[in-house]
Amino acid sequence: MDDGEADSAADRWPATTVEALNDYLSTGIHKVNGWCVPQLWQSIWPLALEIGPGPVAEIGVFEGKFLIGLCKTFDAAGRFDAIALDVFDMQEFNLDGAGVGKKDILASNIEAHGLDKGALHCVEVDSLTLRSREAQEFCERYGRVAFFSVDGCHEVVHTVRDIEFAMEVTENNGLIAVDDYTNPNWPGVQEAIARMYLMRSYAFVPLVVTCNKLLLCSLSYHAKYLKVIENYLRAHHETTRFKRVTRFGFPTLTVQPNLQTWTDLAMPD
Ligand SMILES: C[S@@+](CC[C@H](N)C(=O)[O-])C[C@H]1O[C@@H](n2cnc3c(N)ncnc32)[C@H](O)[C@@H]1O
Repeated sequence: MDDGEADSAADRWPATTVEALNDYLSTGIHKVNGWCVPQLWQSIWPLALEIGPGPVAEIGVFEGKFLIGLCKTFDAAGRFDAIALDVFDMQEFNLDGAGVGKKDILASNIEAHGLDKGALHCVEVDSLTLRSREAQEFCERYGRVAFFSVDGCHEVVHTVRDIEFAMEVTENNGLIAVDDYTNPNWPGVQEAIARMYLMRSYAFVPLVVTCNKLLLCSLSYHAKYLKVIENYLRAHHETTRFKRVTRFGFPTLTVQPNLQTWTDLAMPD
């Protein structure tokens, strides 16, 4: 991926791609089992326009609800790879039992939503075994990803290590999402984030909390991405409430869309 601004967002995202994404977010997403809401894209979409198309990956895919949306957003499973890391049939390593990842259902959902099954790579793995060597092999095979979603086991140790793996394989201008950050049923996620940011310094830092997820981005892009989201929300989602708050010393946004309504994502003017 290139940080340069050679192409405009409209060149990189043909109208048909934006239409297909809006179509998935308004109807398709509700036909796939899993956990995520379309309003999350009010924060992801303006950043995707900055980042550009590229591979996407997720630890903990279940049946692909979020991954399919990411593929459509970043034009993965079409032009790029989509990497699905999950214990799948090794459920003895799914220590919290929050959903059982199913390869066959994931593949058929990917296909049913118009994506190329050949670009989907299912990696059956206990995420606790992912180390630097696996991160290096991942990058050699697929390249660094534009977006990495962490949504596997919610234990503290899994969450910390999954995020650290994500940091190793995500482009410096990319995003990492951590699911269930505000879910009271999975306090391990908040504890993991607190341990990480109180005890160490990372290149990827908290950016936004919205719709049950915490988004992280590199400090290199942090100030720019905050402004990009605020400008986009002001221009296109006027009922969404957002506020700047400090988390672990970093300015961040809390974004609260109206979850009762859906408004199509827009290309900036
Ligand atoms: C909450 S579900 C993921 C939901 C999904 N992201 C969605 O969009 O609906 C959690 C997933 O994590 C997987 N999982 C649990 N423990 C894991 C581990 N140790 N390593 C990798 N995946 C794991 C489960 O099999 C399950 O598919």
